[in-house]
Amino acid sequence: MAYADPHATPPQPLTVDGLARRKRDGVRLSVLTAYDASIARAAERAGIDILLVGDSLGMVVQGQHTTLPVTVDHIVYHGAAVARGARHTLRIADMPFGSAPDPATAYRNAARLVAEGGADMVKLEGAGHMLDVIRYLVERDIPVCAHLGLTPQSVLKLGGYRVQGREDAAAERVRTEARAVAEAGASLLVLECVPVALAQAITARLLIPTIGIGAGPHCDGQVLVSTDLLGLGDGRRPRFVRDFLAGRGSIEDAFRAYAAAVRDGSFPTAEESYA
Ligand code: KIV
Repeated sequence: MAYADPHATPPQPLTVDGLARRKRDGVRLSVLTAYDASIARAAERAGIDILLVGDSLGMVVQGQHTTLPVTVDHIVYHGAAVARGARHTLRIADMPFGSAPDPATAYRNAARLVAEGGADMVKLEGAGHMLDVIRYLVERDIPVCAHLGLTPQSVLKLGGYRVQGREDAAAERVRTEARAVAEAGASLLVLECVPVALAQAITARLLIPTIGIGAGPHCDGQVLVSTDLLGLGDGRRPRFVRDFLAGRGSIEDAFRAYAAAVRDGSFPTAEESYA
């Protein structure tokens, strides 16, 4: 076990109100999923900007086939562990499937993620009825990260995990939803598995930062699932995943290399993106 240097200068914390400034300054944001204190601590030391307690934990921690079985209690449990490991890093917690059927229920669940799970912001998939939820949470001081494109909680409706927004009508829908979530008050937008040109157009249009995963190099930041980044996938590696541990000596080095590659724009490449 390694202990933090007690004399080290604490990093300048990124806060929710600093996100749009990062975009204006053209400083890309590195985001990584974390589910436990040790990984969170390594990520904080490596200079990762934001940690996401994603409902991907259902698949990568629990071994489920989808994210649907994840509950608010699970996110609270893992969020609290991440918060203990990375006190200075901005933390986002996923609102799991079924936790935001209406604004008041969403608020009760989101407040738990903040109060018990140590989250600075909650992430919600989709637009539609979520627009009212976003407005309701933001008006009540809970910052929101929206998530569009491939939204894994909609897997039953989508019929699988596929690139979204390839046809003109589908691209227009994602563009419209992106404007709507920003107008509703979201501070950040995750774009998952959409073509490069669509993500680029949305990023140019919005004042809030976009965070891509399988959305090309023109987003204002990138997010990866930490186990993917460490080469711990289930054997099927999506094209947007790079193994940053390969050729490096430690998990912390891998996280540092990822943060640097996001910041200097060398990740993702065109080959790691969808046309
Ligand atoms: O749950 C998760 O890890 C996510 C990211 C893949 C964006 O939503």
